[in-house]
Amino acid sequence: MSTNTKDNTRKVTTRRLIEMKQRGEKISMLTAYDYSSAKIIDNAGIDVILVGDSASNVMAGNVTTLPITLDQMIYHAKSVMKGTKRALVVVDLPFGSYQGNSKEALASAIRIMKESHAEAVKIEGGSEIKESVERILSAGIPVMGHLGLTPQSINKFGTYSVRAREKAEADKLIADALLLEELGCFGIVLEKIPAELAREVSQKLTIPTIGIGAGGGTDGQVLVMHDMLGINQGFSPRFLRRYADIATIMHDAVGHYIEDVKSGDFPSPEESY
Ligand code: KIV
Repeated sequence: MSTNTKDNTRKVTTRRLIEMKQRGEKISMLTAYDYSSAKIIDNAGIDVILVGDSASNVMAGNVTTLPITLDQMIYHAKSVMKGTKRALVVVDLPFGSYQGNSKEALASAIRIMKESHAEAVKIEGGSEIKESVERILSAGIPVMGHLGLTPQSINKFGTYSVRAREKAEADKLIADALLLEELGCFGIVLEKIPAELAREVSQKLTIPTIGIGAGGGTDGQVLVMHDMLGINQGFSPRFLRRYADIATIMHDAVGHYIEDVKSGDFPSPEESY
């Protein structure tokens, strides 16, 4: 029997991700926010779909992830769940839905699970959100951590540049990763940190790490679908590999359609009743 998750239709679970790490099989993860995209990437064999709060940027056109609301995240998650059969679906807890109050964090996570039927939540931060992580986990809700560049804290950082280059921050990141594992998280996203640090963290943990801008030593990779497909063209950090130029394909196709409408070529008799 093949061990490659691409070769089968078996549902991906949090437990299965840990088994993949144990086998040295890399985990693929992409964002999606709607039914049609989720269906396409699930059919293509993606392991994990993240309903990321990056929807705030690429779907709603906001400059940061901060404005998106819990209701909007649930709307996106519901749509993604309808298009997904095999991938594990993880949903971001948005800014303001968990910080500083673990009861509110649990209530937010419960709403996501109950209303969208998603399978896990992701939450940004380390020791400062320990109580929230514990409380959510105590309700039987799987939690994925997120360390390094945590976009919800952009106003504190003041920049989207690489995090944890300094020893003190790197040490805290390692301690936070170990804490999240000890609390019971099933995985951790490591965003925009030095590749060596990400490799070290990944080797110290038994749960999988999923990197974005964290080099090749993590147990998996995640990208924002709109960035890797070239739908969002205004974002080109060094870590981003573009696999398509969908913006150009859409632009040209729409231009062609406009020409056909204006010239009367569309619709033809064959396209009419
Ligand atoms: O919201 C998001 O898309 C994310 C990824 C960048 C990991 O958190």
